[in-house]
Amino acid sequence: MTERTNPRKLPGADPHAGNRKVDPVTGYDTTGHDWGGITELNTPFPRFVIWILAATFLYSVVAWVLLPAWPVGRDYTRGLLGLDQGVEAVAGFRALSAERRGWLDRFATGDFAALQSDTALLEQATPAAQRLFADNCAACHGTSGQGGPGFPVLSDTYWLWSGDPEEIALTIRDGINANDNSRIAEMPRFDWMEQSEREALAGYVAALPSGTADGSGPEADLFAENCAACHGDGGEGGLGVGAPSLTDASTIYGQDAKTVLQTLTYGRIGVMPAWGGRLSAAEVNLLAVYVAGLSSHDGEAAK
Ligand code: HEC
Ligand code: HEC
Repeated sequence: MTERTNPRKLPGADPHAGNRKVDPVTGYDTTGHDWGGITELNTPFPRFVIWILAATFLYSVVAWVLLPAWPVGRDYTRGLLGLDQGVEAVAGFRALSAERRGWLDRFATGDFAALQSDTALLEQATPAAQRLFADNCAACHGTSGQGGPGFPVLSDTYWLWSGDPEEIALTIRDGINANDNSRIAEMPRFDWMEQSEREALAGYVAALPSGTADGSGPEADLFAENCAACHGDGGEGGLGVGAPSLTDASTIYGQDAKTVLQTLTYGRIGVMPAWGGRLSAAEVNLLAVYVAGLSSHDGEAAK
């Protein structure tokens, strides 16, 4: 630190160091400047900041020379290294899609047994399947296939149709109640039935999941006559007509007596869109394998 003298003060006024002035309050040296009793502290700009400024300036000069930098009319200076992020991005994308095509093509065959047993292939394909599911299916079926009001759970072991990937692929490709090729699944309305009978049936169906439904009452007979053909004798579903099991905790619309009464009165016809036109056959099969795998983690509904 260079010594500064205070031209307005007599030398020797500071008892510690010659002309050096120390501000008694802060302990800093002063510059010696004094404006009507206000002295200026000697707090120079830190050296390292100056060095950093110099270094960054130097770096920018090097970068201007080597990398694309300055706009020149409609063009720009290319830099000596000739880097172009646009070209790099396209090359990266090409490499990625070539890599993807390598394994995605294998799903086009639809040999599900072989696909499901190829763990290396599945490991490679799962991130893409998750993305496809998130983009196309999660809005209705939930991010992990947990379903929601009006949309069936895909992550449990109860199926409207089947947990077989071949059948799932068919559902994804052609949809349900979506067009002429779709699977058809309609819960007919039972508005012709006496209100009291409908209410009794609703109570019976609501009690099925807990196993407390009275199997010997008149409601059980009503169920056997009107419902069992589609939902199974005990309401266990699985008949391949798109009618859900009524004996488990997972529901589409709800299985409290009030909601069931509504279902009976107005009927239900849920629509699952057809994806055949939007996704390739390989993508549909990839999703089918993925959806089939959602339920194999555990036997319970993910709700
Ligand atoms: C617009 C909402 C909607 C979207 C998006 C949607 N689904 Fe569905 N999906 C439904 C509905 C509703 C049903 C049930 C139809 C019914 O009630 O019969 C269903 C049924 C299904 C079933 C039959 C389940 C079973 O138990 O058999 C599968 C499998 C399925 N969807 C998979 C998918 C996949 C995979 C995607 C993404 C490509 C998808 N869904 C996108 C609404 C949707
Ligand atoms: C022709 C076949 C058929 C008959 C007969 C039938 N159902 Fe259904 N049921 C279905 C189908 C298909 C669905 C699914 C509809 C959908 O998802 O949109 C369904 C859905 C339901 C649901 C909704 C389940 C949920 O998870 O929310 C209830 C409750 C139900 N049926 C009860 C009954 C009762 C009670 C009867 C007898 C009075 C009956 N069904 C008769 C085909 C049938």
